[in-house]
Amino acid sequence: MKKIALIFGVTGQDGAYLSEFLLKKKYIVHGVKRRSSSINTFRIDHIYQDPHLKKRNFILHYGDISDSISVSSIINKVLPDEIYNLAAQSHVGVSFEIPEYTANVDGIGALRILETIRQNSFKKKIKYYQAGTSEMYGGNSLEKFQNEKTRFYPRSPYGAAKLYAHWITVNYRESYNIFACNGILFNHESPIRGETFVTKKIVSGLCKIKRNQIKKIYLGNLYAKRDWGHAKDYVEAMWKMMQQKKPDDYVIATGKQYTVKQFINLTAKQLKIKINWKGKGVNEKAYSEDGKVIIEIDKKYFRPSEVNSLLGSSIKARRILKWKPKINLQMLIKDMISHEKC
Ligand code: NAP
Ligand code: GDD
Repeated sequence: MKKIALIFGVTGQDGAYLSEFLLKKKYIVHGVKRRSSSINTFRIDHIYQDPHLKKRNFILHYGDISDSISVSSIINKVLPDEIYNLAAQSHVGVSFEIPEYTANVDGIGALRILETIRQNSFKKKIKYYQAGTSEMYGGNSLEKFQNEKTRFYPRSPYGAAKLYAHWITVNYRESYNIFACNGILFNHESPIRGETFVTKKIVSGLCKIKRNQIKKIYLGNLYAKRDWGHAKDYVEAMWKMMQQKKPDDYVIATGKQYTVKQFINLTAKQLKIKINWKGKGVNEKAYSEDGKVIIEIDKKYFRPSEVNSLLGSSIKARRILKWKPKINLQMLIKDMISHEKC
């Protein structure tokens, strides 16, 4: 019998990589997509299958995790072996603009799924994966590396909503003996990263500057430090968590940290764009060889409270899941650039 997976958030970066990964493992993959006025399936169009086909292993359903009725009816219909909850309003900056919506989707959304799993437990034992985040740490911990034991201190409505989802996942595991795992994933990027996240903004912006399509890009805090991995490596870790005998929580990270400014410099170097930095604070600017400003600071990209430093220790995942990242930052940037055909 083929295993059945159900992915909430199938149209997103991780949803697309996870679908590909599970299809290669011979799963039947069901995905939940939101209705939108413009088509939002570009990341999964290459694996889409005509609904009129008799035999399909990739099946899409309309749904929304803010809607209990759609959540429960899809789960009841599909009765999967594994549910991956990747659905979220995933932009930290935007969560300050729409905090209540973010809490509803990123926090209570997890509860809606877990409660349906609980109600179905006499029919089928469904496993649950919760897409947790390093944002829950808030970046001010005293330890250099954050691990599963580090204190949480979220610094955004997004982080706070995800922390609720984290603890309700632990609670349903302990209260109802549900196989439920929290992946605490540090930043992971790819060629199909959303356009407004900083790595994609930098890579696609510098490529457009190189092609003379735009003159400059505007960014916020250049000195935030992140532990950036590749989404392709990280979806494998999600699956590995779900194949263990016991459910547990795992940090997934590379253990290497760079500032946003270092990411820019590394990308510019691969693109053979020479950059000179001048000025300080909001007046800091990057100049091209011919003296033109190509990067400027716009205060609108500063967040009301910033997560200054994230650096993860994935020792537990390396030991128990036998997981480690295969793609380093230079390879990630190369992959992102080649997608831009630059
Ligand atoms: P993403 O590209 O923004 O994808 C989010 C997905 O959730 C999209 O498919 C989106 O649909 C869907 N979604 C949003 N609101 C929904 C709703 N109300 N109902 C159903 N689906 C909804 O995010 P990602 O980078 O793939 O991340 C996947 C998950 O991991 C997210 O939960 C994110 O918070 C978490 N995470 C990400 C990272 C990272 O660095 N990437 C790190 C830690 C944790 P549309 O396509 O229609 O917008
Ligand atoms: N988005 C963005 N845009 N961020 C900028 C910009 C800009 O123009 N300029 C500087 N930054 C800084 C942000 O202030 C932040 O410190 C850092 O770059 C990374 O920002 P994002 O790429 O938006 O990612 P994030 O770290 O806030 O959140 C991502 O990673 C989390 C895991 O730690 C998202 O994928 C979250 O969903 C995920 O949970």
